[in-house]
Amino acid sequence: MRLGLKGLFNQRNQGNGFVEEIDKQTLPKHIAIITDGNGRWAKKRGLPRTAGHAAGMRRVRETIRAANDLGIEVLTFYSFSTENWKRPKEEVDYLMKLPVEFLKTDLQELVDRNVKVQMLGEKRQTPNFTQEALTEFEDKTKHNTGMILNFAINYGSRDEILSMIQKIIDDVELGNISKSDISEQIVSERLLTKGLPDPDLVIRSSGEIRISNFLLWQIAYSEFWFTEALWPDFSKEMFFQAIKEYQRRSRRYGSL
Ligand code: IPE
Ligand code: IPE
Ligand code: MG
Repeated sequence: MRLGLKGLFNQRNQGNGFVEEIDKQTLPKHIAIITDGNGRWAKKRGLPRTAGHAAGMRRVRETIRAANDLGIEVLTFYSFSTENWKRPKEEVDYLMKLPVEFLKTDLQELVDRNVKVQMLGEKRQTPNFTQEALTEFEDKTKHNTGMILNFAINYGSRDEILSMIQKIIDDVELGNISKSDISEQIVSERLLTKGLPDPDLVIRSSGEIRISNFLLWQIAYSEFWFTEALWPDFSKEMFFQAIKEYQRRSRRYGSL
């Protein structure tokens, strides 16, 4: 084998992320990012975990700018999973306030950039102030025609799949479709990502090589890029490096 486990990571070539080397003709349409490692970043510095989340938000902002400048069509962040409710209340409360902060600091720039903000996940289970901020993001950017920016908040892929099954059963029972009509398209149209292309590239920071209940159906043929960098250390250069690596890969979809 050419690469050991370490070869899965691209840490060593980090300095290599020159944006000029990216081929604009073969950009991934949809990049999805699991922004992991905020807590460990803070712990290493003797800071509370919430400080890691604040630093992580700054990296989210930089990554949005980099993706938008490059011409990426869809950018998705996994910001809060259905499992993250199990964390201490103080941390959950802090995370739920971040969209409110982000609205104050970033809404205008996103509007100016013609970015359309959308959510994946059930907003109604979040506190009112979170829902209001998320709704305002969606409302104020809904006519924008540029990059689609998805935040997966209170998102879990298994939950999404369960709702899809329920929707299909409803449609069969109502006679809208028959059992033999059920196709990949029928499934995709009943997922939260309806209308979006599947992710071409999935990035995860913090050295964890797992999916953690993210877009299970949609990533069937995604390319993966992992880095040991903790999310608050994730740089624009790493982002460009992931895209360059993606462009070197040969996607065969089972064919030759
Ligand atoms: C990712 O960082 C952000 C969220 C899951 C909300 P973590 O908070 O998971 O950080 P680690 O993985 O504990 O370092
Ligand atoms: C994945 O990170 C979810 C988010 C980044 C929001 P977690 O830190 O929650 O995942 P695990 O616990 O390492 O699988
Ligand atoms: Mg984590």
